[in-house]
Amino acid sequence: MIESRFRDKVAVVTGAAGGIGAAVAMRFAQEGARVVIADLNGDAASAAAAKIASDCGAEALGVACDVGDETQVAATVAATLSRFGRFDVVVNNAGLMTFKTLAEWTAADWLKVLHVDLLGAAFFTKELFLHAGPDGGAIVNIASVHAVRTSPNAAPYSAAKAAMMSLTRTAAIEGRDRNIRANAILPGAIDTPMLWENPNLKSGAETLDARDVGRPKDIAAAAAFLASDDAAFITGAGLAVDGGRLAKL
Ligand SMILES: NC(=O)c1ccc[n+]([C@@H]2O[C@H](COP(=O)([O-])OP(=O)(O)OC[C@H]3O[C@@H](n4cnc5c(N)ncnc54)[C@H](O)[C@@H]3O)[C@@H](O)[C@H]2O)c1
Repeated sequence: MIESRFRDKVAVVTGAAGGIGAAVAMRFAQEGARVVIADLNGDAASAAAAKIASDCGAEALGVACDVGDETQVAATVAATLSRFGRFDVVVNNAGLMTFKTLAEWTAADWLKVLHVDLLGAAFFTKELFLHAGPDGGAIVNIASVHAVRTSPNAAPYSAAKAAMMSLTRTAAIEGRDRNIRANAILPGAIDTPMLWENPNLKSGAETLDARDVGRPKDIAAAAAFLASDDAAFITGAGLAVDGGRLAKL
């Protein structure tokens, strides 16, 4: 039996039409939250919201949102406030990983990744600071082990995830007086489409053994902990959820 740690709370989870985000949204709903699924794919966001409503009886709203577009982010938060009347938690999960060598990346390539993986989180952070109520709020940024170690051909992704850790620290500092906490999760390899589409894995440049692969629900459990009052004294932290992958030589 999972406790209702998010009763009366409203959580926005980005990129939650599938993969890790869908598991996070489901976990928050199971713990009593009303959830907003903000995803580039609006139809899939609505379908994920309907599944949450039918599986656990929670109120859920699906919204089409490109997190890299500040206007769409503001509109998503306006829709959240209009439907649910408050905004307590954001899980910045939407992400994009593309692969080229350093010599091949163009400015447009860099900006495409930075807009989704970094600015999306910055825009939702701004919105939470603008709209969190007197109780404060919580930000959980889904970074990556690539924030601290990396593999070839993923420079914009790794740089964006490292910058996301820095954004997390700034949000933690600026949020202290308003009880807005910000933490990051560094997932290792998690069994989603993004993992298995990774060309470094397909080519053998990066190898995994079975113990290195976690489940979306492992990240969901950590996100729920960090967003909950159980983590009331944790802010500005980065939590690796990677089965020990970063710890090994
Ligand atoms: N899967 C892994 O092994 C792994 C490891 C480390 C970190 N992560 C991070 O976890 C997060 C989720 O990854 P996943 O594996 O579930 O990926 P996924 O590709 O399965 O899902 C990503 C979701 O984000 C959405 N999305 C993409 N661009 C968007 C945009 N501009 N605006 C809104 N939504 C957008 C997609 O539609 C999709 O629903 C990402 O930030 C990723 O970097 C994943």
